[in-house]
Amino acid sequence: MKTQRIHDGIDQLTIDVKDILFEGLWEMPNGVTLNSYIVHGDDIAIIDGVCGWDGVPETLFQLFDSLNLDVKKVKYLILNHLEPDHSGWIEPFKKIHSDFEVVCTDKGAELYRSYYGDNETIHVVKDGSELDLGNGKKLNFITIPHVHWPDAMLTYEVNSQTVFSCDAFGMFGTYDKSNASEYTVDELKSFTREIDRYYSNIIGAFSPFVLKAIEKCDGIEISRIAPGHGLLWDTQIDWIIEKYRSLANCQKGGEQKITLLWGSMYGMTEAAVKVAEAVLKASGISYEVHRVPDSSWGEILTSVWTSKGVILAMPTYEYKMFPPMAAVLEEIGRKKANCRLGFRFGSFGWSGGAQKELDEILEKYRMNWTFIEPHEFKGRATDESLEIVKQQTHQLIELVKQCESAN
Ligand SMILES: Cc1cc2nc3c(=O)[nH]c(=O)nc-3n(C[C@H](O)[C@H](O)[C@H](O)COP(=O)(O)O)c2cc1C
Ligand SMILES: [Fe+2]
Ligand SMILES: [Fe+2]
Repeated sequence: MKTQRIHDGIDQLTIDVKDILFEGLWEMPNGVTLNSYIVHGDDIAIIDGVCGWDGVPETLFQLFDSLNLDVKKVKYLILNHLEPDHSGWIEPFKKIHSDFEVVCTDKGAELYRSYYGDNETIHVVKDGSELDLGNGKKLNFITIPHVHWPDAMLTYEVNSQTVFSCDAFGMFGTYDKSNASEYTVDELKSFTREIDRYYSNIIGAFSPFVLKAIEKCDGIEISRIAPGHGLLWDTQIDWIIEKYRSLANCQKGGEQKITLLWGSMYGMTEAAVKVAEAVLKASGISYEVHRVPDSSWGEILTSVWTSKGVILAMPTYEYKMFPPMAAVLEEIGRKKANCRLGFRFGSFGWSGGAQKELDEILEKYRMNWTFIEPHEFKGRATDESLEIVKQQTHQLIELVKQCESAN
């Protein structure tokens, strides 16, 4: 839990959240931060709020205390996005202060009423709406629907050129320091995986909307990006925007990299996986290997999101695909990680069936993946089968190398 003044009259409040699954689903090995902002004009506005993940209001109130903020003076609650990681504090807040106005988009207003009732005055804003807080603090609003819910908007403080971006330009991880400028460029780049994982797990499905949001940002002067999760971007602003642009573009293709995703019950498929992995290693191409169900969905999705090539290795199980592989592929399909180059192999006992289910999933989510010839073998892989897996892996690597990166 920490606070800092990020600009004259603008405070940031941050709490670190650990040991939970984000959205009840995504593992966060290094946790996540929740950032809130207070803008002190003649009127005081809170932009997005923070409280303990379990809705414990004391966390927020302690932060207010540490800033000597009299909550009764808060006039506006600016809600960039109503998802409860940013709005869960409202319910307890209402118990200590009720005389405020809510500022959000029309979709936000609808969500506000369904989560928090209709007792408050809601000030609906659109693209270009302005709110003058007095004393040199002017807020503009820019809608960015579906980054990440339909209600999402950016708030822009005109004089400090600060963009309060909520989920946009966010990242997983908790950090010793709060500002990008306190880290070296190399250190910032070492946090890339936290950005990639946050993006692919939470925002990725909405990538076309992210690209539209970035276009809108191109039209404004930005001195700092103050997101709802992760570091304050008071430097490397172009870098984080380009990072988001390239991650959005990955939805349609990924980088020159291969993800080898595999599962095996008794080691039959695994023997061939070792051959494919050795080929990947020797080739010098960038690659990641993930076993299902051992690797988390979050890590697998991140790897596939950023990979142009995907090798899927799994046996047949009850006339279908090895179940954890099917589950993770369904999730990849829902996130619309499209247009990959693929190669599939695996063992079966008597009938096969894994391939059929793979085809069904690809079709169901219109994934538009292009596969080279799959290879299935009965029981233990013969030397001939291992040689085919080796040759096909080489072929996939060559195809991926010929592709332009999505970025
Ligand atoms: C629970 C279970 C269900 C299976 N169902 C099928 C099946 O429906 N059709 C088939 O051809 N083989 C089936 N098999 C056989 C496996 O595909 C076969 O044993 C394969 O060699 C396993 O490869 P692995 O060691 O890489 O898991 C099944 C095996 C198990 C243990
Ligand atoms: Fe969100
Ligand atoms: Fe969020």
